[in-house]
Amino acid sequence: MYIPLTKPYWGKAEERAAVEALRHSSGAGDGSYTKQLAGKLTKLTGMRYAIPVTSCTHGLELAMAALGIGPGDEVIVPSFTMTSTANCVVLRGATPVFADIEPLTYGLSVGDVARRITERTKGVIFVPYAGMPGDIRAIRALCRERGLFLVEDAAHAIGAYDRGKHLGTFGDIGVFSFHGTKNVSCGEGGAVVTDRKDLYDTMEIYRANGTNRTAFLAGIVDKYSWVGKGTSYFLSDILANIVSAQLDHITTINKKRNQIALYYSKQLQHYAGLFDLPRVPPGAQPNWHIYAVLFKKKTHRDLFLREMRKRGIDAAYHYVPLHSSRMGRKLAGSIFDQGQLSCAARRAFPSTVTAPETGKRRVLSRFFPQENPQGDPFLGVPRTEPPAVPAPDGCAAKSEPREAPCPALPVTDFVWERLVRLPIYPGLTSKQLQYVVQQVRETLQAYI
Ligand SMILES: Cc1ncc(COP(=O)(O)O)c(C=O)c1O
Repeated sequence: MYIPLTKPYWGKAEERAAVEALRHSSGAGDGSYTKQLAGKLTKLTGMRYAIPVTSCTHGLELAMAALGIGPGDEVIVPSFTMTSTANCVVLRGATPVFADIEPLTYGLSVGDVARRITERTKGVIFVPYAGMPGDIRAIRALCRERGLFLVEDAAHAIGAYDRGKHLGTFGDIGVFSFHGTKNVSCGEGGAVVTDRKDLYDTMEIYRANGTNRTAFLAGIVDKYSWVGKGTSYFLSDILANIVSAQLDHITTINKKRNQIALYYSKQLQHYAGLFDLPRVPPGAQPNWHIYAVLFKKKTHRDLFLREMRKRGIDAAYHYVPLHSSRMGRKLAGSIFDQGQLSCAARRAFPSTVTAPETGKRRVLSRFFPQENPQGDPFLGVPRTEPPAVPAPDGCAAKSEPREAPCPALPVTDFVWERLVRLPIYPGLTSKQLQYVVQQVRETLQAYI
């Protein structure tokens, strides 16, 4: 039996949607099906504006262009993410500054973000990993306080909420992915959402090859012409209609994923000595885009992955951290060579932030566990602790060779070496699920 990691949930509704769009549209972007999709996205997320685009990657590029990021600017991003989160900054000639994640839901650590802010910092890109909110509310409070923009790379997060608020709607711009691996998919696609009219207007022009096409079609201007910089990020109307059909049963899709996640957690709870199961923070409604366990030992993780593959199960690790990649090291080296980073400035980070709910000052810590010294704040079960943080902040790398990994990101390194994703998609049958669990158990019992 072969069980892939992910599989799109496409059925008759998506087939009908594709055929309908083939029959009744030219397939070009921005037709009636794209407009319909934009309407469904604003309704789902509660944001005022939505623009379907060719991918989440392009949506992030669009966001950085609209926010006017350029040379000399710094944007704080996670290292435990897809290259798109950092490339959108690099493509503007600006510098991504990598910050660490917290070890429970793998979102940016608010304490670590705060300590990396300098006078050059323009904003933060937060990734709600696996559709979990992490500390997004504290990050938003920090950004507001420091006058920074907040963009959510919500590639994973369609249909995921924190206390009733859709993820991807906490910042200035949120960007979703409809790639073939995502909960809602058309193969390749994405969308940006925003509440800000100024950003919406800029993005409408930029993604339309720098023209005022949208205003022209709306009858606002009488000539359609070149008014600024831009490129083409139009999602085909055919793909837009497939996404629309998928959104009509997003509740079913995410409910099925939730059932699978519950099944895994129930069946694998006895192995808490070997790995941590995913935890849902209070108030979070994840969409279970990913079901990931965190092994206590890297050697066990590697052995487990090899064995699963032999047994036809596509279990997988996730992002190789960007800060220690070839490109990440080059960036770190060049920033220090140019003397752009002031280590002293980075160490002088604030120790408190205003909590959005209470309006009171809240102490920032590097990780949740330090704020919750009893251990796991969610279930009261102790979790695997990441290593202690070397001080001060990896700045020692200043005197090291050019390609030294500058920022010390111990949680990122810890997580990437131990994390395993198990297959999760609505089409998994009970027989297949039982097979996965049986193979996991046999592997753990025989080898670990
Ligand atoms: C966090 C994150 N951001 C961006 C992307 C890129 O999405 P897309 O393939 O739609 O460009 C991905 C892809 O999986 C991702 O995981």
